[in-house]
Amino acid sequence: MNFSTRAIHVGQEADPATGATIVPIYQTSTYTQEEIGKDKGYQYSRTGNPTRAALEKCLASLENGKHGLAFASGLAAASAVLSLLRPGDHIVSAEDLYGGTFRLFEKVYLPQQIAYTLVDGRRPEEFGKAIRKETKLVWIESPTNPLLHLVDIEAVAQISHERGILLAVDNTFATPYLQKPLTLGADVVIHSTTKYIGGHSDVIGGAVITDSDAIFQQVKFYQNAVGAVPGPFDSWLTLRGIKTLALRMRQHSENAQKIAEYLAGHPKVKKVYYPGLPKHPQHSLAERQMSDFGGMVSFEIGGGRDVANSFFKALNIFSYAESLGAVESLACYPVVMTHGSIPREERERRGINEGVIRLSVGIEDIQDLIEDIRQALTACRADCKG
Ligand SMILES: Cc1ncc(COP(=O)(O)O)c(C=O)c1O
Repeated sequence: MNFSTRAIHVGQEADPATGATIVPIYQTSTYTQEEIGKDKGYQYSRTGNPTRAALEKCLASLENGKHGLAFASGLAAASAVLSLLRPGDHIVSAEDLYGGTFRLFEKVYLPQQIAYTLVDGRRPEEFGKAIRKETKLVWIESPTNPLLHLVDIEAVAQISHERGILLAVDNTFATPYLQKPLTLGADVVIHSTTKYIGGHSDVIGGAVITDSDAIFQQVKFYQNAVGAVPGPFDSWLTLRGIKTLALRMRQHSENAQKIAEYLAGHPKVKKVYYPGLPKHPQHSLAERQMSDFGGMVSFEIGGGRDVANSFFKALNIFSYAESLGAVESLACYPVVMTHGSIPREERERRGINEGVIRLSVGIEDIQDLIEDIRQALTACRADCKG
């Protein structure tokens, strides 16, 4: 079965109890058992729930993985993977990553004696140099948030595996429709399903997908023991979003490409970050590793915070809002939103300065979106030249 068919059908057979074509929302915490030790596969909904099970099966299939586990948020999923580590272990991570994941490394796991080293993910050899004998996990995002850098997943998988280390890939930005990290050699994939997988800005969720029985057993144990699971309705909403993932990703990518090209020619824009532009330094890696370039575009304007603020205030269709990956277009200011938890000097060293604006390009009409950006840039001070 191909991707779109799997998105619509895997895990979603007609309900065995009633024939319902769409997976029902099993809004129950518990399950009546026939006698001691005799149940229908479910006992308690933290441990397992049929609506969540359908979602988990579908997610695994989309990533070409054997096992899927759903969580209450992307960070709960990330934390479940980090729970594989023990005090004294060490992580090597690409430095350009979601601020909340950085906060998890720094404020939750470092105090538990799990250290980390950040490297420039664009250079695979940097991972090899940072690996030490305590290193147990390499962590990457690709494309990265918010600068749309790429990490060569195959190369980093090879470096990690030569040293017996697991590779985890946060595939939130690309989605399994555009990129399949397990097929490229990763051991585990993490998602914030809040984003493209859910796709409609109406549900928070996360996922872990792996081929490894051992990783699955440990993460499943953690899922039940810690209990950060999505409820049946959230699982259902996510599953409903997945059905149109392929369609949406095609339109997101088409719209984002056009917006990136428009911004690249605008006199008030200093830089555009989009892997689909031939000028992007890793355009050829993006062509090799992804089937299209996705819906995220970042750019830098001159003039800093005041100018960025006039841009956000002038927008009519794009909402100035956190998050990404939904049908509606959003504009975000990484220095105060997604990356506010990273110290200023560190953030600026990485190029996330006060001129950087991140767009999550939705699937509205492209002419309307370009017109919205055009008029918002016109509203910015004339001296904020790129
Ligand atoms: C790349 C990436 N990973 C993980 C997360 C965390 O996901 P959640 O907000 O669902 O906890 C986010 C959230 O913005 C993200 O952008």
